[in-house]
Order: sequence, then C-alpha cells, then structure tokens
Amino acid sequence: MVFDIISLFPESFTSYFGVSILKRAQEDGLISIHTHNLRDYAHDKHKTVDDTPYGGGAGMLLKVEPLAEAIEDVRAESGIWNLESPTPHSRGLGSSPRAGEQEEKKTRAILFSAKGKTFTQADARRLTEYDRLIMVCGRYEGVDERVVENFIDEEFSIGNYVLTGGEVPAMIVVDAVARLLPGVLGNAESAETESHSVEGVVEYPQYTKPEEFREYKVPEVLLSGNHGEIAKWRISQSEAMSKKRKHENNTK
Ligand code: 6GU
Repeated sequence: MVFDIISLFPESFTSYFGVSILKRAQEDGLISIHTHNLRDYAHDKHKTVDDTPYGGGAGMLLKVEPLAEAIEDVRAESGIWNLESPTPHSRGLGSSPRAGEQEEKKTRAILFSAKGKTFTQADARRLTEYDRLIMVCGRYEGVDERVVENFIDEEFSIGNYVLTGGEVPAMIVVDAVARLLPGVLGNAESAETESHSVEGVVEYPQYTKPEEFREYKVPEVLLSGNHGEIAKWRISQSEAMSKKRKHENNTK
C-alpha cells in the first residue's frame, strides 16, 4: 500500500516511520510512505497557504487552491498500475491488471480534522482494501470547506479533543492500517487476538517473568498449566474489562 501524506510539516514523520515495524515494512516493500509539502503548492512568492475566514471569526483556514492542487497532483503522480509480470487469469472483479496494462489504483483521499468522524479499528480494516491512501493534514482552525466537499472522500478525527494539526492523526492511521496488511506483523506481533478486533472488546491482562515482583504476584491460574482454566479466566477478564471500559466511556 502507498501512503501519500500532504502536510505543512513533512519532517515530523521521519522519526516515527523510521523505526520498528513500519521501518521494516517499508524496507520489505510492503508499504511506501511519501510526504508532500503543502507549501510547495502555494501560489504567491510569500508561499501563503492560509487566510482569514469569510464572515469573520477567530483563526486562519487552509486555502482551497494549494490543497486542491496538492491532492490533484498526488493523485496524478502515482495513480497508475504498470505491472511488469503477466497475470495468468482473465480479468474479473478484484483481479490484477495484465502485464503492460494500466489501471487506476484504488485510492482514498482522507482529511484529518477535529470535525471528522471518529476513526475506529473497523475503519482501519476497511482502509486496508485500498491501494493508496492520500492523507491531508489540517492545521490552524480548519480548511476551506470546498476542499472537503470536492477533493476529500472521508474526514477523520482520532478522538474528542483538539490537536494543533493532523500530523499525529496521520501517523496513527498509517500505523493502524499498515499493521493489518499481510506480512507487516511477524508471528511474534500477531493481530489476531487483540483489543478492538471485536468492537468494544478489550484484551485480557497479560504477565511475564518474574512470577513475583516485590509483593506483586502473577495470577495463580496462569501458572497452573491448565489450558482450559486459563482460557476461561482470560474470557472472563476480557468481558469484565470491556464492561468496565464501556461504563467509563459512557459516564464521561
Ligand atoms: Cl484529526 N485534527 C485535529 N486538529 N485535532 C484533532 C483531530 C484531528 N482528531 C482529534 N483531535
């Protein structure tokens, strides 16, 4: 999968994407991440990308022209398949293009803003179906709504609080989507039994050595070797914790 990130601060991504699993996924060719500086799409010599809102009010908005042109440019830049190797089967729904054949990649343009719908694990799973995600990081008080209406497919927030920009949300969504792609996680980092695999269900508590740290002990059942009892304990712990979290989230 290709991630194209449009941001006023493209340098903010280098450290996070340069370590651990996402670094390896890029080296293995499973994902590629391209950042694009929105300021390169400014029209004037002062490289202006923001302006005051019509109708008045506080703050500045990202202007429509640089954003629209950045999104169009990125779409045009890498929106074409051009496969080297032939595919044996005839073309059908969901199949790959034949050798030399060009086909538009399945692309989604996403805007990050505090006004968006809340990003969930179900969204992460759904987005794995695309070949390319174009991610636009909002800044300032927001973006000209004509961008959202005409150039963006989905607008996401990552939760009910306000951030200074969409860069951290973009890192979060790249991370959440990339780790679900085949081959990105090794066996040791499986995505099968984990929190939020099922909506509203969080994982059971886990422990590793030592059995005792100060006066704190590992629950007896986990040391018993009784796999039936361990499985039952884990289910009950997961249910209890999921219920507790649901209550905490509903009483905020
Ligand atoms: Cl995506 N952007 C901003 N600026 N604030 C947020 C957010 C996004 N998600 C939660 N708060």
